[in-house]
Amino acid sequence: MSAATQHAQNTIAHSIATDMEAVNTVIRQRLHSEVSLVNQIAEYIISAGGKRIRPVLVLLLANAYGYKGTDHHELAAVVEFIHTATLLHDDVVDESSMRRGRQTANALFGNAASVLVGDYLYSRSFEMMTSLDNMRVMSILSRATTVIAEGEVLQLLNMHDPDVTHESYLNVIRSKTAKLFEAAAELGALVGGAGDEQIAAAGEYGRSLGTAFQLIDDVLDYAGDAAEIGKNLGDDLREGKPTLPLIWLMENGTPEQRQLVRSCIEHGDEAQFEAVLAAVSSSGALAYTRQQAEQAARRAAEAIAGLPESVYKASLLQLCSFAVDRNH
Ligand code: IPE
Ligand code: IPE
Ligand code: MG
Ligand code: MG
Repeated sequence: MSAATQHAQNTIAHSIATDMEAVNTVIRQRLHSEVSLVNQIAEYIISAGGKRIRPVLVLLLANAYGYKGTDHHELAAVVEFIHTATLLHDDVVDESSMRRGRQTANALFGNAASVLVGDYLYSRSFEMMTSLDNMRVMSILSRATTVIAEGEVLQLLNMHDPDVTHESYLNVIRSKTAKLFEAAAELGALVGGAGDEQIAAAGEYGRSLGTAFQLIDDVLDYAGDAAEIGKNLGDDLREGKPTLPLIWLMENGTPEQRQLVRSCIEHGDEAQFEAVLAAVSSSGALAYTRQQAEQAARRAAEAIAGLPESVYKASLLQLCSFAVDRNH
């Protein structure tokens, strides 16, 4: 990690350290189940950490609007539970074996247990959100989970399809990833007492930030460092997942590069990883994807330009840089 990225993360963490501790306490309390396997698996993935970006969004937006209560702690935990549920399911669907620097839950406990505990976390999060007794909160979160599920199914349909368009790809990442960022930011603003226009601006911030975040995730799947990202490289290629670097290369590469990528998407040819990595690196495909992420991050920053100046706003802006510069 670069010194600047580390510094940005420290500043963000510092501005909400007390809140984050409270969120972790809520997470611990609400995780508990009478069924020991639920505890074991949920504890396994939650204790592995993760960047906790989505709860951070809830906390920063709520604080940016001067919120003084404690509902944001519950909401931040809800959002992290939903995220964790999607990861448990996603690793089964993607047949991934490494996450957060550990073996995935599906690799260790099996697919059935992972799916069921993912369901448990979803249900638990809905139980928690109803306790807040706020119809708007429930509407934002239930819409978000529906859209995430649609995104994952749409992505499934796009698997092994080399003709997926840039637009269809963007649709997938807006749904599977950006939607929860959007919901987290909206919830923070809502609980902080922001007006409708401000909530919409927070949503635009989250949506654009989440888009940048996923674009970089797709770059890191080729050009990252497995130890730093805590996941295996090449998962996307092995699955035949047409991410933006590959879509760009099929439009702009040499005839040989186009053919290579087409065939890898169709067959999920992991053995060609080095060849594809060389092609996306040398052709400008990764650089293009990074530029698209930078653009999305700029849109995110613009969306919150109207927020009053505060340490929280500064942290929200630093997250825009982090989403693009991150290597984990
Ligand atoms: C992983 O999200 C799934 C994507 C949307 C790329 P994160 O990178 O936020 O995962 P953790 O929580 O930090 O492990
Ligand atoms: C993550 O998609 C999106 C969700 C978990 C809903 P990916 O499949 O690209 O994420 P990683 O690479 O497994 O974290
Ligand atoms: Mg995955
Ligand atoms: Mg990925």
